[in-house]
Amino acid sequence: NNAIAIAIDGPAAAGKSTVAKIVAESLSYIYIDTGAMYRALTLKAIEENIQLDDENSLISLLERTDIKLKQSEAGQIIIVDDMDVTAEIRSQKVTNHVSYVAKHPIIREEMVKRQQSFATNLGVVMDGRDIGTHVLPNAEVKIFLIATVEERAKRRYEENSKKGYYSDMEELKQEIEQRDLIDSKREASPLIKASDASEIDTTSLSINQVAQRILAEVYKII
Ligand code: C5P
Repeated sequence: NNAIAIAIDGPAAAGKSTVAKIVAESLSYIYIDTGAMYRALTLKAIEENIQLDDENSLISLLERTDIKLKQSEAGQIIIVDDMDVTAEIRSQKVTNHVSYVAKHPIIREEMVKRQQSFATNLGVVMDGRDIGTHVLPNAEVKIFLIATVEERAKRRYEENSKKGYYSDMEELKQEIEQRDLIDSKREASPLIKASDASEIDTTSLSINQVAQRILAEVYKII
């Protein structure tokens, strides 16, 4: 059994999940979107009117929240307490609040435990902010994806317009920069490149080119 762990980290909207899915599919590995877990908790906290700076309330909320990531024909679906929240966790509101939830150290500890329990004994591709540094520090392949903020905003703009809604490019840029700032400056496992990760600047690469570069690293090992 030569299944390995692949960690993909990087700032917001750098194409991590799109690329991670392709890599997982090519290898028949499981894909785990850790950002979806923080988003799921954020959605529930907003619905229950919990103050996002109140770590104790968030901890007790997480303790009574079941989060499942399931593979379906249509891709990964996110189930919170038996409700499909796959679409809802991508809303502007959740996107703009999730970093405030994800900064709490005890919330992160619990999320990391859950993420590690999903990844035992399997070939896995996991994406997030702290996968190479904290969740899977022994991952055989670690990738750090970057792109200019202009390029990331442009990709998000196109993604949104495919879904049928218009967004303001400047606003998108600001949201992305604000989220990266909070994620990079927090005390607990901030967004940072692991010392042994390979950085790939995806600004002028296609999704497929990025996936092929990662797969090339994988095939050196397996
Ligand atoms: O990857 P995605 O953009 O869905 O992540 C949403 C947010 O969840 C990030 O901006 C970050 O605040 C948090 N996150 C994190 N650690 C991870 C994955 C996501 O703090 N491993």
